[in-house]
Amino acid sequence: MRILAIESSCDETAAAVVEDGRRVLSSVINSQVAEHRKYGGVVPEIASRRHAENIVQVVQEALEQSGGTLAQMDKIAVTAAPGLIGALLVGVNYAKGLAMAAEKPLIPVHHIRGHIAANYLVHPNLKPPFLCLVVSGGHSHIVEVRDYTDFRIIGRTRDDAAGEAFDKCARAMGFPYPGGVYIDQAAAVGDDKKYKLPKPRVEGAPYDFSFSGLKTAVINLLHNAAQKGDTVDTNALAACFQRTICENLTEHLEQAAKALGYQTIVAAGGVCANSGLRCRLEQLCSRYGWALFMPTLALCGDNAAMIGAQAYYEQLQYPAAGWDLNAAASMAIDAAYC
Ligand code: KG4
Ligand code: ZN
Repeated sequence: MRILAIESSCDETAAAVVEDGRRVLSSVINSQVAEHRKYGGVVPEIASRRHAENIVQVVQEALEQSGGTLAQMDKIAVTAAPGLIGALLVGVNYAKGLAMAAEKPLIPVHHIRGHIAANYLVHPNLKPPFLCLVVSGGHSHIVEVRDYTDFRIIGRTRDDAAGEAFDKCARAMGFPYPGGVYIDQAAAVGDDKKYKLPKPRVEGAPYDFSFSGLKTAVINLLHNAAQKGDTVDTNALAACFQRTICENLTEHLEQAAKALGYQTIVAAGGVCANSGLRCRLEQLCSRYGWALFMPTLALCGDNAAMIGAQAYYEQLQYPAAGWDLNAAASMAIDAAYC
């Protein structure tokens, strides 16, 4: 089955053709990041406008690169939630128009379910059940993936998402948006013991995360140094911040996996491109002999191929969406669409 998938939940306009949920026939991503960088973050209004301008071209390119036509697609999938509402609506409305005109069934996909499904594209043997660490710009969850469309949230962030904490600290350190990758690079050459940062924890909730205290500590350290005229070793601060956050993510994942008896661990989302996190997850899983699956770096961030992968399993489980399908800015991963 060939699915044309569309993703426009944030600042990437993306389209892909995916076969049977596992094989990428094409994947096109038009990133707006250079434009949003000028403002230090995504400007929702600009994101929606760029999606509207680019979506036709991006979908045409994805179809051409797959060697197929719209008529040859079996179904059309689109990210319907969660994300920036104006951005999502561009993709949902375009997918709806295409599906109606070409008389194809329409499959709504949850963006975070898509991030998890990115793993199916690179690990042919990976099947649920497994325990997944989802770490993106907007979400930080430990999720029990009981089946392809059956999810249970085990832990969640109480405040900032991991990617948000990376980006806000990176901004305070003077790096461009999105700063996660710059922290990663600086951390690689920094002393990760030089600065003492608070260990994030949520009282009585061993699987939940809280990164705002850590973020505030980094920002305060920089402000205090600036006021006193002291210089900060940015590489060391990046390394200390990255070590603290990655230790916290892996420790909570370890506790959840032990408590629930999972030996198959999966990572997903933009932050799992982080080299420190990948390294810690590898160490954790090799210590216990657990199987570890992570997306390739190219599939960690937003793309439409992951939406096409998850869409295949959604349509096995649920009927097609009605023409009244709407987008939603927030939706729990365990909520059903239909
Ligand atoms: O999954 P994603 O592309 O978008 C959302 O759905 O939110 O994640 C984007 C996030 C950004 O916060 C970005 O800074 C972060 O992923 N990120 C990284 C790295 N590469 C991307 N964070 C830390 N280290 C990296 N190498
Ligand atoms: Zn994402």
